[in-house]
Amino acid sequence: MFGTFRSPNAVYFGAGQRAMLGRVVSSFGRRTLICTDERLAADPMFRAMVEDIGAAGVDVSVFSRTIPDLPLGCIDEALAHARSAKPDSIVAIGGGSCLDLAKTTALIHTLGGRPQDYYGEFKVAKAVLPVIAVPTTSGTGSEVTPVAVLSDPDKTLKVGISDPRLIPAVAICDPELTLSCPASLTAVAGADALTHGIESFTAIRRNEGADLPLERVFVGKNIISDHHALESIRLISGALVGAVEDGSRLDLRSQLMFGAMLAGHAFANAGNAAAHALQYPVGALTHTAHGVGVAALMPYVMRFNLPARRDEYAQVAAAMGVPPKGDAKAMAEASIDAVTALFAAVGIPRTLAELGFQEGRIGWAAEQAMTAARLVQNNPMPLDVESMKTILQAAYHGDPRLLS
Ligand SMILES: NC(=O)c1ccc[n+]([C@@H]2O[C@H](COP(=O)([O-])OP(=O)(O)OC[C@H]3O[C@@H](n4cnc5c(N)ncnc54)[C@H](O)[C@@H]3O)[C@@H](O)[C@H]2O)c1
Ligand SMILES: [Fe+2]
Repeated sequence: MFGTFRSPNAVYFGAGQRAMLGRVVSSFGRRTLICTDERLAADPMFRAMVEDIGAAGVDVSVFSRTIPDLPLGCIDEALAHARSAKPDSIVAIGGGSCLDLAKTTALIHTLGGRPQDYYGEFKVAKAVLPVIAVPTTSGTGSEVTPVAVLSDPDKTLKVGISDPRLIPAVAICDPELTLSCPASLTAVAGADALTHGIESFTAIRRNEGADLPLERVFVGKNIISDHHALESIRLISGALVGAVEDGSRLDLRSQLMFGAMLAGHAFANAGNAAAHALQYPVGALTHTAHGVGVAALMPYVMRFNLPARRDEYAQVAAAMGVPPKGDAKAMAEASIDAVTALFAAVGIPRTLAELGFQEGRIGWAAEQAMTAARLVQNNPMPLDVESMKTILQAAYHGDPRLLS
């Protein structure tokens, strides 16, 4: 048995837990910087949190110009803000983009240099300013993960900084903050979270060894990530359609946020795989949200990986509530049908053509996807440019037979 688990020092989960934010922030010092976006900065719940931090005796400075998908220029602006605010901690309130901005700002403000100096894995040599992550979407899991994803105008694809030192010190997950998410955001973020659960649960399993967690940020499937992944799949698949249909259901919002956080824990340690690698070029070409792309690709990646992960997919089907039927192969097939049906029910496009992807770009996209080494190496079936092309062909045409 082999397992790795890296996580924040504390995770506080539950409706109303944001009321502890001021006291948590004050435990890190007298000054803090909040990273958020303009929409959230105008929200009464946000303003109440700022007041609460102030009431705890902490000077608060707010940076509210986070831009989705985190362009480098946005990080520069936040850093300039941090230099004058001289914070003892950084609070992130928002979706994955705000959380990743806070992580990157904490890193550069503490250690200097530029974001480019840290692209890749294990490039963060010392501890960085503590980040207190307060997610307002149930999707990325960034509140518990060691990665920040950003957009560099000199790079065609989005880039990642991955290091255990980027894991927030504290995550406060309050599902009431997600009640304002519109149906489309709920669907896309939830679909992203489900793919985290599935890709982690079916990731490669490496030979365990004392060096593995020191050599890789994402170690592959293991007994601890499996535990988080399977439970996240159960929770998210049970709540997503209901939360998209009626966003006022706090019980379903809670289930989704808990599922997304568990899925974050799963991929923070195991890592994602082919669907995430392929989304990078697909997202760059179609300008579609991360969650839409990974979800549209997921059923095709599952079919490609089926020979290597039959038993795991059978467990995915059971976790999604598919009644037992036939043998493991039949159950594994049923998991692909269940994921396809769930995503269709929340409005995720079924093909890359529907996302606006051009068939003529399949070759380029396959080559680019192969450059996401940490994700490619994490896939349970070996990948090369040809197999990436096959998955993209199947996903473009919506034809799973191309993968059989
Ligand atoms: N660091 C990680 O571990 C990780 C993992 C997966 C994805 N990501 C990255 O996270 C980003 C996506 O994050 P996201 O899906 O959370 O969206 P986001 O942070 O990009 O936000 C999208 C939009 O949703 C709005 N929004 C956020 N919360 C809301 C709420 N409660 N009510 C109404 N509107 C709200 C925002 O204002 C914004 O306009 C991408 O850049 C992606 O690459 C990071
Ligand atoms: Fe994702």
